Formats: sequence, structure tokens, C-alpha cells
Amino acid sequence: MLKSKLRRDHQYLLNNYFNFHVLDIYFKKYIENKYLRFILATFSFPFYIIKNWNNININGIELVVTTKCNLNCKDCVNLMQYYDNPYNIEIENLVYDVKQIIDIVDNILELRVIGGEPLLNTELPKLLNFLAHQKKILTIVISTNGTVSLNQDLINSMKNEKIRVKISKYDTLNTKMKVKNFIQELEDNDINIEIKYHSTWSDFGDLEFRNRNQEEMIEIFENCKSSYRCGTILNGEYHLCPRSAHATSLGLVPKDKESFMNIRLKDESKRKMKKNLKRFLKTKPIGTCNYCDAWDMEIREIAKQK
Ligand SMILES: C[S@@+](CC[C@H](N)C(=O)[O-])C[C@H]1O[C@@H](n2cnc3c(N)ncnc32)[C@H](O)[C@@H]1O
Ligand code: SF4
Ligand code: SF4
Repeated sequence: MLKSKLRRDHQYLLNNYFNFHVLDIYFKKYIENKYLRFILATFSFPFYIIKNWNNININGIELVVTTKCNLNCKDCVNLMQYYDNPYNIEIENLVYDVKQIIDIVDNILELRVIGGEPLLNTELPKLLNFLAHQKKILTIVISTNGTVSLNQDLINSMKNEKIRVKISKYDTLNTKMKVKNFIQELEDNDINIEIKYHSTWSDFGDLEFRNRNQEEMIEIFENCKSSYRCGTILNGEYHLCPRSAHATSLGLVPKDKESFMNIRLKDESKRKMKKNLKRFLKTKPIGTCNYCDAWDMEIREIAKQK
């Protein structure tokens, strides 16, 4: 009970943080001094909240651009180890899905371009150019293992203040030199980067049915780090976590219609889609929570290869 209350408060804080962040980004256009910006954002915060009470603001959303990967991590949280026939998602479909989502939300604080290894989709430059022009998308993060060669097209498309390349550093692998050169090349081109160091990886367990009751499912969902942060778009479906998106897409876990939202419905009105989205974002738990151990405390070797 206490835990779930904490969880809700945490979510509330996250939403407020989101709104505050939006204000800060807005004032950044006019004011360089961060202290002055902070004061202005603090004073205008209550007015902003009242004005935007009914807005749909998304803290983070992951856009899967490929299920291909050049590494073979045994315990990949996104289940790449289960794809026998990995594929790239076509640019037309990616653009369509993003248009559908931004049509019904007010802001997306962080859109994460992810895979697999997103740099393996050769249409990434086109996608980044499109994303960078979307006003409702405030930041774009490319989540990569930093081991794929960069070309000039890709470098040019990454040069945007909204874009940040987040590089996982897997120091146990023999890819150290590649990653070092990758980072150097981005730095030389003034591209925003973030290095992600992992001290542990989690074990989400296999995809067998766990036979949990509803109460247990809610408990696991509410305590899961993915459920409120890692909503995932895969092939026109918006899921509340990557495991749900990939496990159901692979046909390894049954797909129940409450657990995802189809964003490719062409005849649905914008009003109805908005209503559906509001309802969908409150869903808990999702069917895949019965096929998952969530962020179990068991420590897994990071990026261990198959
Ligand atoms: C699924 S990867 C996709 C992006 C890219 N291929 C990479 O490895 O960075 C996204 C993030 O999930 C992390 N990750 C993968 N499996 C994990 C696990 N079992 N536990 C915790 N984090 C995991 C990766 O280290 C990476 O930071
Ligand atoms: S965690 Fe490993 S297997 Fe999964 S997408 Fe990243 S590099 Fe590929
Ligand atoms: S299936 Fe449920 S418990 Fe597992 S990662 Fe997704 S939200 Fe978390």
C-alpha cells in the first residue's frame, strides 16, 4: 500500500519535473543566465500548470527503428536474442507512427531512438532530420552501443542541439577501441553525447507464464522501472514497456488488446485517439507482467555475448 502510494507520488513528481523542464527550455530561447531562468520558471510554474491542466505530456517514449544488432547480448532487456529474422523498420512507417503520436499529445520530453542497434538502420539520417523539426519533441536521444561506423550523412543529421547520442560503454567486450574512436568522432563534430556506464544488468527471466493473480501483477507493474518510463512504439503499436512490445510482436507472449494501443488506425478521429491514449496511459498491469520478473535484483553480467 505504502509502496504504491510512493509510486504514485513519484509519478506526480516526474510529471511536475516534466512541466518545469518545458518552461526552462522555453525560457532558454530568450535568457542565457540559468539562475534567472530558474526564478522565472518558478514564478510562472503555477500559471503554466493551470493553463495546461488537460495536456498530454509524455516524459519518455522509445521508437524502435530496427531489431537488428551487431552484438549478441544474452540478457538484452529488449529481447534481441529472440529474433531469428531481425529487420529494419521502414522510414515511411516510422514517420507515420511519430506523426500519429504527436498529433494527439502536447509534448514529448524525450524521444529515444532505439533498437536493437539503431545505427544499423541506414535511413536513420532521414528520420533524425524529420524528428528534429517536430516542435512537440523536445529532446531526441539515440541509444547506441557505439560500435557501428559513422558516415558523413549520419554525422550531419546528428548535429542538432535537440539530439543527444547516448553510448553504452561495455568495457568487458573487445569493442573498446571502436567505442573510443566513435566517441572521439562525435566530439570532433560537436555532437551532444552522454556516456552510459552500467554497474549491473537485471535479469527479467524467461518468457514462461508465471500464473500470478491480479494483485501480484499490479505490485510487479508498479515496482517496475520500465512501466512508467519506457513506453515503446514498435510497428504501429504503442506498448507500456519494451518487453511487452517485443515479446508480443515475436508471438512469444499472447497479445491482449488492453496492453497496447494501435496508432495506425486510419479512420479514428483525433478526439477518439486522444481519449484512448489517456485511458491507455493509465493501464495497469499489462499481460506481459505475467511473463516477466521485472527489474529483479539478480545481477547479470553486462552485455555477456551468447
Ligand atoms: C536495449 S539497449 C539498445 C541500445 C544499444 N544497442 C545499446 O546496447 O546501448 C538500451 C539500453 O538497455 C540496456 N540493457 C540491455 N539489457 C539490459 C538488462 N538486462 N538490464 C539492464 N539494462 C539493460 C543497455 O545497456 C542499453 O543501455
Ligand atoms: S543490449 Fe546488446 S543485444 Fe541488446 S540491443 Fe544493445 S547491444 Fe544489442
Ligand atoms: S512486462 Fe511488466 S514487469 Fe516486465 S518490464 Fe514490462 S512492465 Fe515491467
